[in-house]
Amino acid sequence: MTNVTVRVPAKINLQLAVGPLRPDGYHDLVTVFHAISLFDEVSVAVAETDSVAVGGEGAAQVPADGDNLALRAVRALRAATAAQAGSGVAVTISKRIPVAAGLAGGSADAAGALVACNELWSAGLSQQDLCEVAAGVGSDVAFAVLGGTVVGRGRGERLTPALVPAARYHWVLAFADGYLSTPEVYGALDRLRALPAPGGQASGTGGSRPPSPPSPLAPRDLPHEGTARPPIPPAPQLSTELMAALRAGDAERIGRSLGNDLQAAAISLFPALRKTLAAGREFGALGALVSGSGPTCFFLARGANHATDLAVALSGAGVCRSVARAAGPVPGASVIER
Ligand code: C5P
Repeated sequence: MTNVTVRVPAKINLQLAVGPLRPDGYHDLVTVFHAISLFDEVSVAVAETDSVAVGGEGAAQVPADGDNLALRAVRALRAATAAQAGSGVAVTISKRIPVAAGLAGGSADAAGALVACNELWSAGLSQQDLCEVAAGVGSDVAFAVLGGTVVGRGRGERLTPALVPAARYHWVLAFADGYLSTPEVYGALDRLRALPAPGGQASGTGGSRPPSPPSPLAPRDLPHEGTARPPIPPAPQLSTELMAALRAGDAERIGRSLGNDLQAAAISLFPALRKTLAAGREFGALGALVSGSGPTCFFLARGANHATDLAVALSGAGVCRSVARAAGPVPGASVIER
C-alpha cells in the first residue's frame, strides 16, 4: 500500500463547562463533543521525508511546516509504534472545515493523519491505542478519532462515549468573518472571571498563570445574557438536563440545554457574534451557541427542511460570512480509499 485517504469530521460542543486554570496552563473541562457532517480529507503517501500540503477552505492560515498538527501526529505515531522509522510521509490535507473557527479542524486533520498512517504502515493500533497517541498531540484530537457523541473530561482528551440512542440532528453553522485563537479565548475567560464582583471580590482565583494585563473590556462591552463575570465552578459538571435530553432524543429539550462557558469570552473578543446568535433564535432555532472557542455559531433545527429555511434566513440576514448545514452525530476519522 502506498497511499491512504481518510475523511474526518468537525466537532461542535453541545456543552462546554470550564473549570479553573490548572498549573499546566490548561483548564479542566467537562464537555459533550458531537461530530458533524462537515469533513476534511487527509491523504498520506510513502515519501522520502515528511511533508504537508494544504488546500481548500482557509488553507493559507494552516502552517505547512513541522508545526502542522497533522505532521506532529505522524511523528507521535512513529514514536509510539517504532514503525517506518526510516521513511517519510507526504500528507495532503483538503480542507472544508474552516481554520481557527472553534470546530477543531486542526485536531481533525491530526486524527486523520493518525488513522491514515496506522493503515499505511499496517501498524495495527486499535482505536483505543490511537486515542492514547492522539491525546498527546492535542486536546480535541482523540475525539476526532472516535466521533459520535462523547463526553470529554480532563483537558478534553479523556473520553467516554455518551450512551444515547441513535438519532440524527440537523444543525446550521454560521461561519464568522474572522478568527479566534483558542488560548486567547481561554485567557479572556480567566480575565472575566477575575473581574471584581459588585461586592469587590473577584469571582475566584484563576490558578497559576502569570498575571494577565488588566482587562481591556469596558463594562458596556461585557456580554449580556447573564454571562458577565461568570463564576468559576470548583469542578465543571456534566449537564444532567442535556444528557437526559440526548437519551430521550428530544431536540427541543437539547436546544434548551446547550451551554458553553467560553461563549461570554468569545463574544467579548468578537462582539458581532451576539447578533448572529440572536438572529438564529429569531428565525426559530431550537438552540443557538458559539462552538468551542468560536467564532463559529451553531443552531439546532427542528428537521432537515427547517435547517434549510434557517440557513437561508441567516444567510440573508447578513450576520455571518457564510452558512452550512450539517447533520450529526457522524463517525470519527474513517478510511475512504486505500
Ligand atoms: O491542546 P490544544 O493545543 O488544543 O490547546 C490549545 C490551547 O487552548 C492551550 O494551550 C490552552 O491555552 C487552551 N486550552 C485550555 N484548556 C483546555 C484546552 C485548551 O486552557 N482544556
